[in-house]
Amino acid sequence: MEIIKKIKEMQKRAEELRLKGKKIGFVPTMGALHEGHLTLMRETRKKCDILIVSIFVNPIQFGPKEDFREYPRDFEGDRKKCENEGVDIIFYPDVNEMYPENFSTYVEVEKLSEHLCGKFRPGHFKGVTTVVMKLFNIVKPHIVAFGWKDAQQLLIIKRMIRDLNMDIEILPVETVREEDGLAMSSRNMYLNEKERKEAPLLYKSLLLAKELIEKGERNSLNIINKMQEFIENNSENIRIQYIEIVDTENLQPLKEIKGEILIGIAAYLGKARLIDNIRIKID
Ligand code: PAF
Repeated sequence: MEIIKKIKEMQKRAEELRLKGKKIGFVPTMGALHEGHLTLMRETRKKCDILIVSIFVNPIQFGPKEDFREYPRDFEGDRKKCENEGVDIIFYPDVNEMYPENFSTYVEVEKLSEHLCGKFRPGHFKGVTTVVMKLFNIVKPHIVAFGWKDAQQLLIIKRMIRDLNMDIEILPVETVREEDGLAMSSRNMYLNEKERKEAPLLYKSLLLAKELIEKGERNSLNIINKMQEFIENNSENIRIQYIEIVDTENLQPLKEIKGEILIGIAAYLGKARLIDNIRIKID
């Protein structure tokens, strides 16, 4: 497994691989790798000749009061996990390499970031699309994997690829969960024992919403209220940031449940901000 830190070297390597006719699969990450990331790697591996993983905690996608400094970093652990998964190259740049002095060009996908996390994390998705665009230009992938856990991120990147005619296939991968339903996330490391016990309530509230819809409920507000009530009745520590029901295509809130919907939730448990979602198709 190669570890490449310099942009020029990564670009040169990617170009050589392309010239040899190799199909490059790419998994961008911020490290602190868990089963969710490893699943992205395994799924991508099935569809490519060369698997590249980037590890870069991207400062421009964190707000001033967010956890950029505390974000878990464990390059040695990540390196071993990548090696076990048969990753061919880790791209591991440092911040000055990615954002030289006077960096001033950004990529922004409009509209799709108005709701869900976008409403509460101004500038976050602009930071994500900018770094992802840069990583695509550096790693030159044919196929890239993103998880449904970050559904809004996945849909925004899909739109960026389409709108900017990028010749890249996107591979969406289902959320990987702990046995009790908690969606895997690097931020789960922040949870203390008590918080960890309550964390699966987020997913349970989403399952409650699904059950209500299956029983015929079509009013979004009723569903949101019942989810909120369920969490409040069963938890001492969860502080809900939002629960939203949106259309999967344009991510705009729906008053009435119809078509393909996404129910998203974000909540704080101690200092951990956790997100989760489910998608439901109504015939
Ligand atoms: O999902 C993440 O880990 C990050 O947002 C990404 C896509 C690696 C960009 O920094």
